[in-house]
Amino acid sequence: MDKPKDYGTPASSAAQTVNLEIDGFKVSVPAGTSILRAAATIGIEIPKLCATDSLEPFGSCRLCVVQIEGGRGMPASCTTPVGEGMKVVTQNQKLADVRRGVMELYISDHPLDCLTCASNGDCELQDMAGAVGLREVRYRPIETHLNAVKDESNPYFSFDPSKCIVCSRCIRACEETQGTFALTLDGRGFASKVSPGQNQAFMDSECVSCGSCVQACPTATLMEKSVINQGQPEHAIVTTCAYCGVGCSFRAEMKGEQVIRMVPHKDGKANHGHSCVKGRFAFGYATHKDRITKPMIRKSINEAWQEVSWEEAIAYAASELKRIQGKYGKDSVGGITSSRCTNEETYLVQKLIRAGFGNNNVDTCARVCHSPTGYGLKQTFGEASGTQDFDSVMEADVIMVIGANPTDGHPVFGSMMRKRLRQGAKLIVADPREIDLLNTPHLKDSTHLKLRPSTNVSLINALAHVVVTENLVDEAFVKARCDVASFEKWRKFIAQDYHAPEVAEKITGVPAEKLREAARLYATAKNGAIYYGLGVTEHSQGSTMVIGIANLAMATGNLGRNGVGVNPLRGQNNVQGSCDMGSFPHEFPGYRHVSDPATHTLFTKAWKTELSSEPGLRIPNMFEAALDGSFMGLYCEGEDIAQSDPDIHHVHAALRAMECVIVQDIFLNETAKFAHIFLPGATFLEKTGTFTNAERRISPVRQVMRPLAGYADWEVTQMLSNALGYPMNYAHPSEIMAEIAALTPSFQGVSYEKIDELGSVQWPCHDDAPVGTPIMHTEQFLRDNGKGLFMLTEYVATAEKITPMFPLILTTGRILAHYNVGAQTRRTDNVAWHPEDRLEIHPHDAEDRGVVSGDWVGIKSRAGETVLRALVTDRVQPGVVYTTFHFPESGANVITTDNSDWATNCPEYKVTAVQVAKVMQPSDWQQEYKAFSDKQLELLEQRV
Ligand code: SF4
Ligand code: SF4
Ligand code: SF4
Ligand code: FES
Repeated sequence: MDKPKDYGTPASSAAQTVNLEIDGFKVSVPAGTSILRAAATIGIEIPKLCATDSLEPFGSCRLCVVQIEGGRGMPASCTTPVGEGMKVVTQNQKLADVRRGVMELYISDHPLDCLTCASNGDCELQDMAGAVGLREVRYRPIETHLNAVKDESNPYFSFDPSKCIVCSRCIRACEETQGTFALTLDGRGFASKVSPGQNQAFMDSECVSCGSCVQACPTATLMEKSVINQGQPEHAIVTTCAYCGVGCSFRAEMKGEQVIRMVPHKDGKANHGHSCVKGRFAFGYATHKDRITKPMIRKSINEAWQEVSWEEAIAYAASELKRIQGKYGKDSVGGITSSRCTNEETYLVQKLIRAGFGNNNVDTCARVCHSPTGYGLKQTFGEASGTQDFDSVMEADVIMVIGANPTDGHPVFGSMMRKRLRQGAKLIVADPREIDLLNTPHLKDSTHLKLRPSTNVSLINALAHVVVTENLVDEAFVKARCDVASFEKWRKFIAQDYHAPEVAEKITGVPAEKLREAARLYATAKNGAIYYGLGVTEHSQGSTMVIGIANLAMATGNLGRNGVGVNPLRGQNNVQGSCDMGSFPHEFPGYRHVSDPATHTLFTKAWKTELSSEPGLRIPNMFEAALDGSFMGLYCEGEDIAQSDPDIHHVHAALRAMECVIVQDIFLNETAKFAHIFLPGATFLEKTGTFTNAERRISPVRQVMRPLAGYADWEVTQMLSNALGYPMNYAHPSEIMAEIAALTPSFQGVSYEKIDELGSVQWPCHDDAPVGTPIMHTEQFLRDNGKGLFMLTEYVATAEKITPMFPLILTTGRILAHYNVGAQTRRTDNVAWHPEDRLEIHPHDAEDRGVVSGDWVGIKSRAGETVLRALVTDRVQPGVVYTTFHFPESGANVITTDNSDWATNCPEYKVTAVQVAKVMQPSDWQQEYKAFSDKQLELLEQRV
């Protein structure tokens, strides 16, 4: 299997070039390049062990020694930079003797079991023994490490210290790449050994199982258990992670069609060879026994499922949809696209609904996460997306993180952020909870604006007030780049006294002086960058807050170049793509309104059918219409609305009211328990297509195994469309992308050939930007007049108020080990880190209620009640409780309410007034739901 070349030390970005000779060959490299790397660029491989090109050189093994003409001794080539006119010798007898001596020492304390070692054939120690011509080991030390005890505590990799050569690559990977500092070198001399924490097992240490140390280890000391158990992979295919919005590139390393391991791809432009526990290790769900691989139908949800052929399932689905439309009208059916499926699949689902169903009743899960981003950024900047690439953060001087938890939600980007913070960038976090980023090692003076949930807009207005009243506005930027009339109106609005930090302090709970300091820090930074997450959007004023962020960035000139920008951290792998592809009921692909005459004509002609120019139903409207009896059929692809949407009682009632629910998914998820037709879906490993990450990067998804159910999801949608009488005849997803490019200006230059050539491409990509656009709005904004628009952002308190009956605010979030509704990660060993959702509660609130960690507590809101185990922690502030939502039985959405964003209906997940009390048993809802769920699993077991 071909492996990416290791140049030994990282590339230098210096502009200046240095010329030298190595073994008589001339070479020119950027200044600052190591001799080791310079040699590798011309194919001269100097032996090395402690060096690898993902880490800074360390110079401990002495295997890479060279001689330099006119120089003294034998310097290590990994730590010696090139010099102009240098003449380097990498091979002669003296060097060979030194290297052989070094290797002999290593091998004398190494188990001689190469033939049976899991690393055999993929071990740098073995390779180097061969490279230096080591034929015999003349001595065995009296004391060795050969009996050192293995640590098998991590479910995904093992640690066998008997094979460790103490090269520190793992320790450096944990520090430099991951930023966790979980590993240390204990002891001195012979006694020195690598140790997670204070002699802890990996699972008890700070380790977050990112896999970086495993990848860096040159021996079999740190090794994936999948390789130990199944042997070395034989071939590799580069594809894209299907978990979060970072969109890491991976080499799926395979044996036949079996994935042995996922290794982060060095050339991946979003991740640069790094990964997190999900993408790196949690892929076993793809072949989990719960996968459903045969289509199934049933007349009612109280009946057992009946397995049928694809033809029968598709024909039945089409006939049901037609029957319902015949009885209740054309608008009585609709669909939900998936942010987990590819762009091509999402495009096809919305096309099916608009052209095949004949209405615009299509929506997506972005409705419940980042729809306010789409609205707010489109209004102010003219484009519904983040402004930067991830690498931009490495130029930021002040990083403001609002309502996001990057180390858990976007871990690889979180590591990049940490790296920049270690280099000296300043951090401002606005979050009700103490997120891990604040605990970045060696980070001393970060600012935590610990605001009360639901008070974001007051906070952003106070920051803007300071900017305006303390003359911190970038007047030149505003004059040149923004709509000045809107700015002047906004300036007057925001300068009013009621936006002052002293007033905001009463609303947000953040001391006024802290707000002032944060505003000054951001506004006076050379480069200030804002990153935000669902803690911004999932509020009744989500769109207002996004606009407030955009206003602040424009007023301070923090847009249009490297190191600045406004960056939504998208939750799911393809949430950006699903929005781009026209998943909203009012927009065709490319965010163009369905009533816009030119767009409407374009799509009518291209799709050769009449299209509605009336916006269709949003997800919450579909539920209401179902309960009213006017929406009776739903096609739901790769989305679990019965777990993920708010006010679950209402969602379940709506699903029960529908006459035909078609679910296309890989497992019998919670929504499928209410379904009449189940169409088996395919995982990302089973199909070809593209995902678009949070930085607008379109990356390839490549099939590594055949679909277990026989078809990729796009093929199933196509079959359904044909059965409904709207013909689709794509032979390959590249043809779908060609159609997207032809109809969507920002995708005009995108093709599979280009993605193959460049590795990935960031939209907008067209004639003016043929290789894509890493940074948006560099010359002008994408609004019609090219000017950024300021909008007024009045703070309106949420309707969700604490009362004596519900005195605490519940807010929700994610955790590193799990992804969204957990359907995938719960079916992997990631449950070892997080086997259940817990309720975080502050010690004061816990004491008031006699609650200690581990107690069962009932959480009651005006919408419902559920029971979770308590975790007492001061990460949350008094008056606030917090939970994740990864387990269906937790019922986090039983208690969330139907409040939503005024502009987009995005639910207010982040603010629910609750009471918490110690209880002894699950809530009524949990008991009822368990009975229902058990019954559905029984009906699945009984399938005919
Ligand atoms: S897996 Fe990642 S976090 Fe854990 S020790 Fe290795 S590098 Fe550090
Ligand atoms: S565990 Fe591997 S990477 Fe770490 S010091 Fe030992 S041999 Fe080197
Ligand atoms: S889950 Fe996100 S951060 Fe982790 S490997 Fe996948 S894309 Fe990267
Ligand atoms: S590779 Fe240079 S000292 Fe180890």
